[in-house]
Amino acid sequence: MTATMMTGFGNSFETEALAGALPAHQNSPQKVPFGLYAEQLSGSPFTAPRADNRHSWLYRLRPAAAHPPYRLDPKIGLLRSGPFSEVPPSPNRLRWNPLPMPGAPTDFVDGLITWGGNGDVAAGFGMGIHLYAANRSMERRAFTNADGELLIVPQQGSLLLVTEMGRFTVEPEQVGIIPRGVGFRVELPDGQARGYVCENYGAMLRLPELGPIGSNGLANRRDFETPKAAFEDIEEPCELVQKFQGRLWTTTLSHSPFDVVAWQGNLAPYRYDLRRFNTINTVSFDHPDPSIFTVLTSPSDTAGTANIDFVIFPPRWMVAEHSFRPPWFHRNIMSEFMGLIRGSYDAKDSFSAGCSSLHNQMAAHGPDKISYEKAVAADLKPHKIDNTMAFMFESRMVIRPTRFAMETPLLQSDYDACWAGFTPANLNAP
Ligand SMILES: [Fe+2]
Repeated sequence: MTATMMTGFGNSFETEALAGALPAHQNSPQKVPFGLYAEQLSGSPFTAPRADNRHSWLYRLRPAAAHPPYRLDPKIGLLRSGPFSEVPPSPNRLRWNPLPMPGAPTDFVDGLITWGGNGDVAAGFGMGIHLYAANRSMERRAFTNADGELLIVPQQGSLLLVTEMGRFTVEPEQVGIIPRGVGFRVELPDGQARGYVCENYGAMLRLPELGPIGSNGLANRRDFETPKAAFEDIEEPCELVQKFQGRLWTTTLSHSPFDVVAWQGNLAPYRYDLRRFNTINTVSFDHPDPSIFTVLTSPSDTAGTANIDFVIFPPRWMVAEHSFRPPWFHRNIMSEFMGLIRGSYDAKDSFSAGCSSLHNQMAAHGPDKISYEKAVAADLKPHKIDNTMAFMFESRMVIRPTRFAMETPLLQSDYDACWAGFTPANLNAP
């Protein structure tokens, strides 16, 4: 599938699935080749500064506008949107066991369960955090989200994302990003799949500034991959589900919505392999702030204060001298939702793949007792942390859990115990 991808972050691409389909030197000529319909898709306001301006032109078999009215889906499942006010947000440290695979046939959209979030879809800031578990490919069914872009983090099983702008697989340790409004369906090459989704209501995700790190490092632009145009010319009914202002709406098209023959511009789905992250760490002492591991960020209006930071903890060498090497004890203004894609995590002895945790603003947390005791007793030689891939959705705003998240038996009732039993410092010790 790699050969069908174009590389670079935020690049302006041109791609056609049929030679000659892309108009030359003009966005919307009077006559588009083959009688295709030209349609602009804007991801930013028209007048956004050039560096932030994201839009593409799509050339398709039928205009997207040719659809019957959407009807409100009366079913209220477990998908929620901001504002999140079902239950009071908890100051407690929270941790959940992995979401089990569904018993009944369930596709990606029906398998989305909201764990929490913040902000407000109507106001255009904040995020929703969802988990999914699915065991059925979407068939004659497509999904589009007007409420935000989707950052999909598979934990188990690959996803084939068939989008309006091309198709690509995303496997565990890769992430896929679907821009707001771009239609897609999810097929399951492995039969079943599980993972995490961050729905970004705010400013589009982008690469973080590198500051004194310089021009290289962290996620490099060349490692982001965007699919080439691919289309279906299918005259069969297809359900199109749209998430709009927190609710699902549905309509039935007479045809496949994946009928974009060519497109050009800098707004498109993309994929990134987390194993390509160029990890930066100390080579002297102490432990840098986790912002050093930021893959993508959604900024807020306040400099350095993210709506969302997507942060990973990949395999890396630990060489700090005279230092407590795992993440230290901390209480932060930013709130942290964490998941584990693979292996184990160096600050927790009992955080297994597929688990989730939430440490909200000012919640005291850090290494559990077992990890602490190992770290202070360790013989500090260079050491490779391997077989791991953890991540965080971090936010300036408190992450407010849903009622489901607070009441599910997946919530671990004994999480606080991992910080019990620390003996007080002995002031009489040397
Ligand atoms: Fe933390």
